Amino acid sequence: MKRIGVLTGGGDAAGMNPALRAVVRTASQQGVEVIGIEKGWRGLAEGTFGTLTPFSVSGIISRGGTILRTFRYPEFATPEGTKPVAQTLKRMKLDGMIIIGGDGSFRGAQKLEAKFGLPVIGIPATIDNDIPGTDVSIGFDTALNIAIDAVDKVRDTATSHGRIFVIEVMGREYGLLAAQVAIATGAEEVLLPEIPYNLDDLARRITQGYDRGKQHAIIIVAEGAGKASYVTFEIKERIQRGVRMVVLGHIQRGGSPSGYDRILASRLGHHATQLLLDGQHGLMVGLVANKIKTSTLEKNTKISARAVLRDSRLMEALV
Ligand code: F6P
Repeated sequence: MKRIGVLTGGGDAAGMNPALRAVVRTASQQGVEVIGIEKGWRGLAEGTFGTLTPFSVSGIISRGGTILRTFRYPEFATPEGTKPVAQTLKRMKLDGMIIIGGDGSFRGAQKLEAKFGLPVIGIPATIDNDIPGTDVSIGFDTALNIAIDAVDKVRDTATSHGRIFVIEVMGREYGLLAAQVAIATGAEEVLLPEIPYNLDDLARRITQGYDRGKQHAIIIVAEGAGKASYVTFEIKERIQRGVRMVVLGHIQRGGSPSGYDRILASRLGHHATQLLLDGQHGLMVGLVANKIKTSTLEKNTKISARAVLRDSRLMEALV
């Protein structure tokens, strides 16, 4: 292999930069040129790319976001959106490609293999941690820690005022991030897309908590379980007490990657590149039981089965 490409797709995740750094350094060390495609899948259509060297990725290990940038480009699923991609690929003359992203990016990766015969290896990066072939995806740990920090701060003011706070956590249709935020912050309640909930019961439990002397109530709502504004309105209807709402939103996607994410991204980035250079493709690298494992891209084009709370007794005991 002489030249490989790399792009970051979908929503950004802290740790994409360290992954990119590992890709560039691993390939360059073996004399392989790396082409970075800017703006993700849209950049592949627009033809925005340039050579990356170890110098261009120096100092990015601690930077949030992705220096390559990323745009949503649903047009790649259509024939019109695919045409310009073919032209860019011709110009770049790549022998293979590394795709850093989530399930949508892996669908794109599969298409690159099937339609253009380009060997691809995927690296899972999404704060949602909903990719089946890995225990943890790049960006999840940083997002979890940002959310924990935010909820801890909200709890201080909640306690001072005796208020109820409804806090919305990202995760798309998947509740893992919210579930772990709830456990790690000792939240009173958590609403998840995977589990039906009853707001009358929830309001009763919160009232009982105050009757026992509690001075606050934190309700974590996964964005896939309903809007925080709706839950706040419904709680206000049921409990005569101050209720406030916080939507954590995109702050969970920003910030410097945690130590865990830097190491995970470096390991996955290195192994993905080595696999590609060794002639393997159609695979995603993941971390399973703390070992680097591969699974097919196909397996990772859909989000994990809804098994977030297999340990429901743990959740009942801790939230
Ligand atoms: O997939 C990552 C994620 O942050 C989800 O948690 C969220 O639902 C979505 O992306 C938000 O997407 P956008 O940044 O396009 O609004």
